[in-house]
Amino acid sequence: MVRETEVSLTSLMYPLFMVDGTSKQIPINSMPGINRWSLDLLLKEIESCLELGVQSFVLFPAVEDSLKDQFATHSYDPSNFYLKAIREIKKRFPDACIMSDVAMDPYSSDGHDGLVIDGKIVNDETLPILSAMAVAQAEAGIDIIGPSDMMDGRVGSIREALDSNGFTDTSIMSYTAKYASAFYGPFREALDSAPKSGDKKTYQMDPANKWEAIREAELDSVEGADFLMVKPALCYLDVIHLLKERSELPISAYNVSGEYAMLKAAAQNGWIQYERAMPEMLLSIKRAGADIILTYFAKEFGEMRKKGLV
Ligand code: PBG
Repeated sequence: MVRETEVSLTSLMYPLFMVDGTSKQIPINSMPGINRWSLDLLLKEIESCLELGVQSFVLFPAVEDSLKDQFATHSYDPSNFYLKAIREIKKRFPDACIMSDVAMDPYSSDGHDGLVIDGKIVNDETLPILSAMAVAQAEAGIDIIGPSDMMDGRVGSIREALDSNGFTDTSIMSYTAKYASAFYGPFREALDSAPKSGDKKTYQMDPANKWEAIREAELDSVEGADFLMVKPALCYLDVIHLLKERSELPISAYNVSGEYAMLKAAAQNGWIQYERAMPEMLLSIKRAGADIILTYFAKEFGEMRKKGLV
């Protein structure tokens, strides 16, 4: 009766990794329980999540090296399996909420989220590429565009491109305060998308900075974001709290791959009680102020809820 915080299944978004082809379920070593799926099996996975009450998903493509180039042109090529998959998923499950990823890294031969010219990540030249990617995803039927690239001005640029192409109903969840974090390691293994040289510190945020998150949030709000995200979640609960206090927009938190991997590894060693620690993590992210949590735990949390364990 006096409990202040509740984790509802409707507040969870489940990230899913995809590969081209059929009958593929490729486990990701550093993320036990998480796979790369081909579309046929992904549809089944989504169906079983929907049955559990998990209804929102974030899709990430693992792209073959031969399709990568400097300008990430394959990201908006109509033959891109990711775009075809979005169409098929929305056709089969119109009520599922599907979010995309907008960033160059899965398609970039440099492995960076922005365009690399002479060893530098160039902000403004990246914006039209991201916008083309977003419009292609909107055309395919995506509900929420998720720019994870951290270029300045990209929310405004994407909003304008969506609106001028008639996609006024497609919303944007901006990766607002995305930190240059060590906790993305397993994700980059999953997508084989690590930077070929350098790091992401010129565009992702310094983990030491909190007030900068406010500046990022103000810019994203003015540019037309519908949701603001903090990423990672667990080391940044103060930032989640701060943005929730300062903004009227819904706040999401990305409970990232490294946070998932840590808990799974400890659980596999018998060093921690998974069934208690996992819901405690999600509850803490909620308590800090997140309205929405992107988490690899979503499906298991749904299974536990079905059994009445959480
Ligand atoms: C890349 C992207 C990353 C994640 C989501 N989108 C990795 C990165 O910035 O290098 C990380 C997600 C996770 O670790 O779970 N645009």
